This record gives sequence, structure tokens and C-alpha cells, in this order.
Amino acid sequence: MTKYIVQGGKPLFGEVEVSGAKNAAVAIIPAALMVDGVCRIENIPQISDVTLCLKILEQLGANIRTINRHTVEIDCSRIRSTRTSYELARKIRASYYLIGALLGRFGQAEVAMPGGCNFGVRPIDQHVKGFTTLGAKVVVEGGFIHASTDLGRLKGANVYLDVVSVGATMNIMMAAAMAEGNTIIENAAKEPHIVDLANFLNSMGANIRGAGTDTIKIQGVDRLSGGTYAIIPDQIEAGTYMAAVAATGGQILVKNIIPKHMDCITAKLVEMGVEVEEHEDTLLVRRTGSLQKTNVKTLPYPGFPTDMQPQITTVLSLAEGTSLVTESVWKNRYRYVDELKRMGANIQVDDRTAVVEGVDHLTGAPIQACDLRAGAALVIAALAAQGESEISCVQYVERGYEDIVAKLRGLGADIRSVEIPGESDELEAHIG
Ligand code: EPU
Repeated sequence: MTKYIVQGGKPLFGEVEVSGAKNAAVAIIPAALMVDGVCRIENIPQISDVTLCLKILEQLGANIRTINRHTVEIDCSRIRSTRTSYELARKIRASYYLIGALLGRFGQAEVAMPGGCNFGVRPIDQHVKGFTTLGAKVVVEGGFIHASTDLGRLKGANVYLDVVSVGATMNIMMAAAMAEGNTIIENAAKEPHIVDLANFLNSMGANIRGAGTDTIKIQGVDRLSGGTYAIIPDQIEAGTYMAAVAATGGQILVKNIIPKHMDCITAKLVEMGVEVEEHEDTLLVRRTGSLQKTNVKTLPYPGFPTDMQPQITTVLSLAEGTSLVTESVWKNRYRYVDELKRMGANIQVDDRTAVVEGVDHLTGAPIQACDLRAGAALVIAALAAQGESEISCVQYVERGYEDIVAKLRGLGADIRSVEIPGESDELEAHIG
């Protein structure tokens, strides 16, 4: 098992380069299955979720050539099977995108049910509703989701989402891209990675308009052919480094970002007394004085992202006064709070609300990550805390943050990764 050892209490200074967006990459890589030709994907983050996605494609018959650390060429012109490996697909939440991609191109898909979840029920009823509206039959049998159509090809239709779902929007968009006729997705999610997936598919020959608004119009095409595409920078990774410097104090330049994507996060940090200077593709983030309380409510984009909730709550635990955090996307995303309490945080959780009484300082402790963003929050807490922390289960963090230890060390943090022999890194449940 890998652990992080952190000597906290040091302000961060320097520059950090943001990687490609995880939640775009884990959809765009499965979408490559729809392309009859070679697609070159650039700015791919080096994280374990991406490695898994690529392995699943390879097992289906994709030919994958690694060009460099962040670029791969995927050739899906000779796919052998539409049934994914059970062991691989069940490990990653985003394996549900394989259904939309395989069903869209081949009219059939057999994909293991995505891994168990760590913050409450994570239904996929809206994905299924979308597929069935497009003419598919979907059943769960033997741990697999079987989706197929007798028509050989899906048929375009109007799909109204009952809840704003990132995954359902992207999955239905993929399935509809090669359906016969037109599809309209209403009440669609608007996250930057939805626009990114639409741009990827369009660059391969799809006809998708309106991504980034709540109505997406898709005109089905017969074939997608190869091309080159670069994934957008990761909004949440960038936000995590911004939150880290807010918690520790100091000044960092966050590079390779799209400032517009950061507005919802920047606005909250500024309310807390953090200075943020925006440039073309960088943000200069500085915290010199004390942090002020504020209230945060998570919402679908362009609201404050749920994937930044644990990190911002950690920063607020060090602010003057009492802040309220409301989690309105996931039912149970406060499991990390007990670990923060071990470090001296004063937070009470009641259902979807956390009441955060700011404390003067946190103290280092042995703590354990329970999911990806919870892990990121604990890293931030450990960096800001007085004394040493030992963070276990960091394999969750490495699912979504490329080289986090090296990047933080580049900012002057005292953090190192150590291998503890004899303990396994195997994760039972993957989320993300
Ligand atoms: N929902 C339904 N039915 C569905 C789908 C979703 O009721 O069929 C509900 C969920 O229970 C939840 C809400 O709708 O309350 C939003 O869920 P959504 O479908 O948007 O989430 P997701 O697609 O499963 C993605 C990200 C998550 C991120 C959410 C929200 C990926 C692989 N995962 O999940 O990312 O929290 O969108 O933005 O893209 C992370 O990166 O740490 C992470 C958890």
C-alpha cells in the first residue's frame, strides 16, 4: 500500500501545470470505440482511471499506440467484441460510457455494472431511459448490463432527462451520434466535459449542436472517421491546487487552465479573502491574510461543483466564523469529515448540510482517504496542518490526480509517497 507522509504548515509558492480533464478523458476514450479509423488523443492525464479505460478498449480489440506520456493513438477499426471484461469494467464508474459507445456503433453492448459507490446510491436509470427511448432493450443479467437493438441501429428520438445528469447526457449523446435520424436531449447537463465530448465527436464527423446548453441536438451520422483531438484542462484539479494555497497561504501560478471554467470556484475563494488574478490561460492565486467564512451550495455547472466540495469544506474549516456547506448533488459526500475531525476540525453534518466552525489550526494525524476528492481534501488538510500526517488509501487520489506528489513538491510542500510492504492497494469500490 502507498501512503503519503506530509509535514504540514508550509505555505505554497511556485507554478503548477494542470493536466487534461479526468472526467472528459474517461468519456472520450470510450467514445473512440465509435470511430472507424485512427484517432489521436492529446492531453490525456496519466491517472489510473485512464489506464483502466485504455486496457478495456484494448481487450475489446482496439489497437493502442502510446505516442508520448499524454498522447495516444487509438484504432478501433477492428473491434472483436462488444462484451467488456467483467473484472476491468466493474472497477471504474465511467465504464457506463462503454454502453453508449458500443450500442451507438454496433447496436449492442455488454458491460459489467459499474463499481459500488462510496457516497450514496448512484443510479443509472436516466442512461437506461435514454437508450430505451432510442430503441434499445436494456436488461441486467449475471452482473452485466446488456443493451441491444433489434433494428441493427438506434433510432433518433426526444429524450427528456428527469434529473440533470452528466453521465446520462454524455452517454445518450454518444448513443445518438450514430443513430438513424435526429435526437434532442432536454434538461441536459452543461459541464465543460460535455462540451469537450461533443467537440471530440464532431471532430470525428458527428453532428452535435447545443452542448453546454440544456438542449442538445444530434443529427445521427453513418460513420465516424479518425482525427486528432486535445482534451481540455481539468477544472477540478486546478481548483484543488487553488484550494491548497488558500489553506496553506502563499502564492501559486496555476497554468494551463480555461479561466471561464474556474469562475464558480474563483468566486467562492475570493469571498473568503483569497486573491485571484486571471490571465489568458493561467490564474495567480495568493492568500496572505486570514480566511473568511462563506456559504457554499453544490449545483450542476455553472454552479459550484460537487467535486470541489470536500476541498472547499477543508479550507472553510480554517476560516474565521461559521460557514454552511450544502451538498445538493450527492446524498452522502461527507464521509471525509470524520477524518478532518481527527485533525481538530469542528464540523457538524446534518443530512446534506455541513456546519463548519472555523478553527485556528489543524494538527497532523494518521488519516484515511475514502474516495478521490475526499483524498484530495485530506492532502490539503495535511499540507495546512501543524505537524506530520500520514494519509492512507491514496490510491483513490491517484485515480484522478496526475503526479500530485511531484506537483506539490514543486510548490515547496513537504510531501512524499512511501510504499508499505504487505498491504494491498486493491480498491473494492471505485467512484468518480
Ligand atoms: N442521477 C440519477 N439517475 C441517473 C444518473 C444520475 O438519479 O441515471 C442522479 C445522481 O444520483 C446524482 C445526480 O443525478 O444525484 C448527478 O449525477 P450525475 O449523473 O451527474 O453524475 P455521474 O455522471 O455519475 C459525474 C462525475 C462525478 C461528478 C458528477 C457530478 C464522471 C466519471 N463522474 O458522475 O465525478 O461528481 O458527474 O458532477 O464523470 C469525481 O470526479 O470525483 C466524481 C465523482
